[in-house]
Amino acid sequence: MGLFSRGTDAIGVDIGSYNIKVVQLKKIGDDKYQLTKYGSAPISLEYNMELSPFDRKQLAITSLKKLLIQNKISTKNAVTSVSGNSVIVRYVKFPSLSHAELEKTIQFEAEPYIPFGVQDVNIGFQILGEVTDEGQKKMETILIAAKKEIIQDRIDILQEAGLRPVIVDVDAFALENAFELSSVTQGAEENVMLVDIGALVTNIVIVESGVCRVVRDVLVGGDNFTKALQKNLQVDYSTGEKMKWENGLIMFDEKNMEKSTEDNEDKAQISGIIVNAVKSLIEEIQRSIDYYQTQSEEKIVSRIVLSGGSAKLRNLDKFMSQELHIPVETHNPFSGGKVNTDLFSGGELVEEAPSLVVAFGLSLRREKDIK
Ligand SMILES: Nc1ncnc2c1ncn2[C@@H]1O[C@H](COP(=O)(O)OP(=O)(O)OP(=O)(O)O)[C@@H](O)[C@H]1O
Ligand SMILES: [Mg+2]
Repeated sequence: MGLFSRGTDAIGVDIGSYNIKVVQLKKIGDDKYQLTKYGSAPISLEYNMELSPFDRKQLAITSLKKLLIQNKISTKNAVTSVSGNSVIVRYVKFPSLSHAELEKTIQFEAEPYIPFGVQDVNIGFQILGEVTDEGQKKMETILIAAKKEIIQDRIDILQEAGLRPVIVDVDAFALENAFELSSVTQGAEENVMLVDIGALVTNIVIVESGVCRVVRDVLVGGDNFTKALQKNLQVDYSTGEKMKWENGLIMFDEKNMEKSTEDNEDKAQISGIIVNAVKSLIEEIQRSIDYYQTQSEEKIVSRIVLSGGSAKLRNLDKFMSQELHIPVETHNPFSGGKVNTDLFSGGELVEEAPSLVVAFGLSLRREKDIK
């Protein structure tokens, strides 16, 4: 894309349905960065997920403006992203063409693979390499289509908050970028699943030696966990949120250790309700693992790396690992030794880290895009 000129700073702005997150990094050496700014702010203080798109946009603008002022962010260039059901990512084998040739014909070539009208989407692609398909040489390509409407929505939010949009990326690729930088086992041959659980959307990505092999967005997230509590316990949304944050999941060994008191029974009930909602997400994750593994017997997902605000749900990592029989860890994008975080106090940053992963990945985009 090459939209930046050398030396230009940019902030990563993750406009979620629940929170806006910003991250700014400064390059201080080869593959080394300094975290200079970070912050997050809720879209709405009333935890109201039923907002109209117009109201949500206005609240996002107000919240982003506040975030920029509070964190004294003066950089104007911003990289943001889209995800969910207005974006599709497909793996397609196109006839052998050069990058330039495919660029010219992409609208036509992509049409059969896109469930929206081609005139309504922006199309991007990345050629992965040559493959032989039924005796013919083809190019394996990642095809990305995002509705113009949602891209425009993001651009409007940034502009109205006084920023200059330079790239609109896809959450899944930002996750992959973040993972590549912070992964300590970088370069090792392993297949890692990245799962970012937000409020409405969960992004699922399987990364194989630095290449995204599966990209899927599932419309399940923390909002479903809260709604399950709201419905089963007849409480309002913000009480459900509070219960979810304070309680989280109670693991089997904890239940055995604690004496059965009324309070513990309440906790077990809350946990049980959240577990049921979490299980439908786990089924979707399992489906992606199965799909990936049917592509070849050698393809085993060796670990799962969780991020997003909902990755903070207490014991979620342990529970997922127990259900899926795969090690699960929570992502701290600032670990791995490549990002200096000295300007900030450790505890708060570690607490916030999982929900900053997309913004962090976006803030890295400029380096790769300098031409
Ligand atoms: N400590 C916690 N325990 C449980 N859930 C939490 C905790 N902290 C935040 N959450 C949940 O995280 C979700 C918000 O996460 P995040 O900021 O990643 O979402 P988002 O990016 O705004 O949403 P989306 O990507 O779905 O549009 C909310 O559902 C919130 O309740
Ligand atoms: Mg999100």
